[in-house]
Amino acid sequence: MDIFVFTIFPEMFEGPLNTSIMQKARERGLVSIQMVDYRLYAPSKHKNVDDSPYGGGAGMVIKPEPVYYALEDRLQGDYGKVLLMTPQGEKFSQEMAKELAGEERLSIICGHYEGFDERIRKLAHQEVSIGDYVLTGGEIPAVVIIDAVSRLIPGVLGEEESARFDSHYDGLLEHPQYTRPREFRGMSVPDVLLSGNHEEIRRWRRKESLRRTLLRRPDLLDRAKLCREDEVLVAEILNEERTEK
Ligand code: ADE
Repeated sequence: MDIFVFTIFPEMFEGPLNTSIMQKARERGLVSIQMVDYRLYAPSKHKNVDDSPYGGGAGMVIKPEPVYYALEDRLQGDYGKVLLMTPQGEKFSQEMAKELAGEERLSIICGHYEGFDERIRKLAHQEVSIGDYVLTGGEIPAVVIIDAVSRLIPGVLGEEESARFDSHYDGLLEHPQYTRPREFRGMSVPDVLLSGNHEEIRRWRRKESLRRTLLRRPDLLDRAKLCREDEVLVAEILNEERTEK
């Protein structure tokens, strides 16, 4: 996948995208990420990318020319899917990450401190927010999206780290996990995980995944597709939780 990020702070991407799994994915050519500083495309002598709003008022607005010129110059007509980072956008989700992972090219436009001139929005196929809070710019949201999408590209994660078992992958939260030691400060690993009975372990994990989702995120459970076995497990959980109280 080719990703182009249009930003006036390319340095904000250096740490997160040059470390760990993202670094390996880039080195192995599975994901190519290029940061484009659209300030370089500002037409004025002082290279300003923003100006005061027409109609007056506080704050500054990002000018359309630097953003348009940067996309036109760097993408050469092949824009791929263009995303605009804004708290006004559609809320990012694992579902959206899966859809975006199927794209060959993503172009991500980031603002900073201020609003976009409305004409910049015309460049975008989709406006995306990472949550209902306001950050100083779209750079951190862009990193979040690049990370979540890249790890779904085949080959980026090894079998060990596979996304198949992630929380949210199938609409449920992940089951509890344990590793050595078997006992730690009076807390012990559930016996079933030491039993070697694969069928019982699978059933326990599914049940605990359903329990976690039911107790922490019932909204997710409403939307998840449950099979007959899941329904039996949910009934068991509800019974257990009732007798707990
Ligand atoms: N820019 C500022 N805040 C943002 C958010 N929550 N999501 C996407 N872009 C943003």
